[in-house]
Amino acid sequence: MENEEVIVIKNLYKSFRDKHILQGIDLTLNRGENLGIVGKSGIGKSVLTKCIVRLIEPDAGEINVLGTDVLACNDIELNEIRKRIGYLFQGGALYDSMSVRENLLFPVRRTQFVDKKHDSEELVERSLRSVGLLDAIDKMPSELSGGMKKRIALARTLILKPDIILYDEPTTGLDAVTSGEISELILKIREEYGTASIIITHDMKCAKIATDSIKIMKDGVFSVHGTYDELSTSADKEIRDYFI
Ligand SMILES: Nc1ncnc2c1ncn2[C@@H]1O[C@H](COP(=O)(O)OP(=O)(O)OP(=O)(O)O)[C@@H](O)[C@H]1O
Ligand SMILES: [Mg+2]
Repeated sequence: MENEEVIVIKNLYKSFRDKHILQGIDLTLNRGENLGIVGKSGIGKSVLTKCIVRLIEPDAGEINVLGTDVLACNDIELNEIRKRIGYLFQGGALYDSMSVRENLLFPVRRTQFVDKKHDSEELVERSLRSVGLLDAIDKMPSELSGGMKKRIALARTLILKPDIILYDEPTTGLDAVTSGEISELILKIREEYGTASIIITHDMKCAKIATDSIKIMKDGVFSVHGTYDELSTSADKEIRDYFI
């Protein structure tokens, strides 16, 4: 289906006491689209993604995910929606006491995910292969580098075959080469799984490689939307400055 909307957010508001963070956010994500979000630290990017899966309850507005009104969901419906959204958390942690295999099996067991074609061991292997780390299946997180941990965390979101992946700072803390590899991996995952993604990043190389277009969050709303090339060569210095 062309241009099927998988996330539609309208007029979203969220304040913490007197801190007005989201002040009328509008966003549409289409199937297969990789949308970047950039903005200053503390502006509300992570708060927005947490609202999408209702880890944070917004004050007002509408969030529709895959045809479901997220803010009207009961717990069972919310669980169903969450299964279809992979969330790569900022600083996304693995469970240190579990091996890579057990880390990956965890969401399968927790959600009682059933795949008609593959058993859970096959799912683990398939998602590890997707991130190029099948070799690490029996390792403990303490044996992995930062870049490997990111890949494993990504494999853990892939295992439930999500329709949507929310990447919150997927390359933070990684060297330039590893960041580049993760950015390429984000593209490969879209090809392989047909996911739509929101990619929050301060890493402009990641924004350039992995996104189709980018929104800039400022003062509680999206002030600008354009491709990396458009925004990074904008006549407006304030916009260009995000891309230095
Ligand atoms: N649960 C919460 N309770 C109170 N304030 C919060 C909560 N979560 C976030 N905030 C505040 O909301 C603001 C936006 O935070 P958020 O984490 O979304 O920023 P961000 O744009 O993701 O920044 P960064 O780029 O540094 O990750 C911050 O001022 C933060 O302190
Ligand atoms: Mg954040």
